[in-house]
Amino acid sequence: MSGDARKTAEGLTYLSGFGNEHSSEAVPGALPEGRNSPQRAPLGLYAEQLSGSAFTEPRDHNRRSWLYRIRPSAAHPAFTRTDNGAIRTAPFTQSVPDPNRLRWNPLPEPAPATDFLAGLWTLGGNGDATQRAGMAVHLYHANSSMDRVFSDADGELLIVPERGGLLLHTEFGLLHVEPGHVALVPRGVRFRVELLDASARGYVCENYGAPFQLPDLGPIGANGLANARDFMAPVAAYEDVEGPVEVVNKFCGNLWTATYDHSPLDVVAWHGNHVPYVYDLRRFNVIGTISYDHPDPSIFTVLTSPSDTPGLAGVDFVVFAPRWLVGEDTFRPPYFHRNVMSEYMGLIEGAYDAKTAGPGGFVPGGGSLHNMMSAHGPDRETFDKASAADLKPHKVDDGLAFMFETRWPVTLTPHAGRPEHLQQRYDDVWQGLERHFRP
Ligand SMILES: [Fe+2]
Repeated sequence: MSGDARKTAEGLTYLSGFGNEHSSEAVPGALPEGRNSPQRAPLGLYAEQLSGSAFTEPRDHNRRSWLYRIRPSAAHPAFTRTDNGAIRTAPFTQSVPDPNRLRWNPLPEPAPATDFLAGLWTLGGNGDATQRAGMAVHLYHANSSMDRVFSDADGELLIVPERGGLLLHTEFGLLHVEPGHVALVPRGVRFRVELLDASARGYVCENYGAPFQLPDLGPIGANGLANARDFMAPVAAYEDVEGPVEVVNKFCGNLWTATYDHSPLDVVAWHGNHVPYVYDLRRFNVIGTISYDHPDPSIFTVLTSPSDTPGLAGVDFVVFAPRWLVGEDTFRPPYFHRNVMSEYMGLIEGAYDAKTAGPGGFVPGGGSLHNMMSAHGPDRETFDKASAADLKPHKVDDGLAFMFETRWPVTLTPHAGRPEHLQQRYDDVWQGLERHFRP
């Protein structure tokens, strides 16, 4: 953490657009023109391709970037295994999948000198990272900037800060992400996390499956939900550091470490579409009813990772952003629900409109899980209030909640089931819902 880092973060410029063929050079002339791999790359750089999809995937799914760097990525010593900390990876087989509604407290204060990587704590997930299918839910709580570099071969990382700003130093350049924004680091891209405040806390969706993309809009039309131009990719920025740098690689569930003799964040220019980005959730164009009934929450999808079945996501990232409720003769909070999909919810700030807040409740930094077919919905107080409310137009603007909604049940890690994390009386929320039936 330093004032300089915050100044750097606030002065960043970006390239706008989702899935674009961007290009950027930190030094004029560093990017070759007209070809990817000239006989000698400009300025004595090495040319290297980073493939995020198979070479042969259809054009609209094909993802790769060309990097022009001081040393090729291949110039590194052997990796050796290192401690996985509290990071776990699918398949999750140490616990029995739990049909109960579950809710967690925020993570406790981290030990001194805990960086983003050491502060990662896996709640659970599904699928199999080696099959590139499924996802994991992680939380993080850190109080120190990384002086090492990390990359994840198992999936892309969607970082959702809840407390504390982050400056991500990536191979592609710098990204500034604050609570209320999200950042995505693609599979295999190396980065380190610098803290902009004394501590940082938040959530991470590790997506083993197809890269997140914008959902189709169908009859909504050409605009709306998350607009493509609001996704910001970095401009090229490089570190020219000679000397020992630890690089940690997550591969098929384990962390591996190697000490390089230089920083691998040494990309002077790049072009392509396999790039990290940030997005401000308050830019989300919220669409809802202007007549009656509550649309399904899929209307709040920011990003979706499609599966082989049309319309069935490996995981969706959904935001409950500030919005007006105007439905006539409508129960306005989210309805009672049982879902074939599994829903992990987190709270970035404030309160969520189906749950009353308070200690031991659904609080920022905490989370809830409603696994496949588990019955959930508003608590009694919310139900009573919403059933009797005067249905004037009403703005919901007291919180920012999100959901990772996934096709398979989320199985917990053993540490996620411990009573210091897991709330013991979440079911009480739905007690006392009175019988009103009058035949
Ligand atoms: Fe639901």
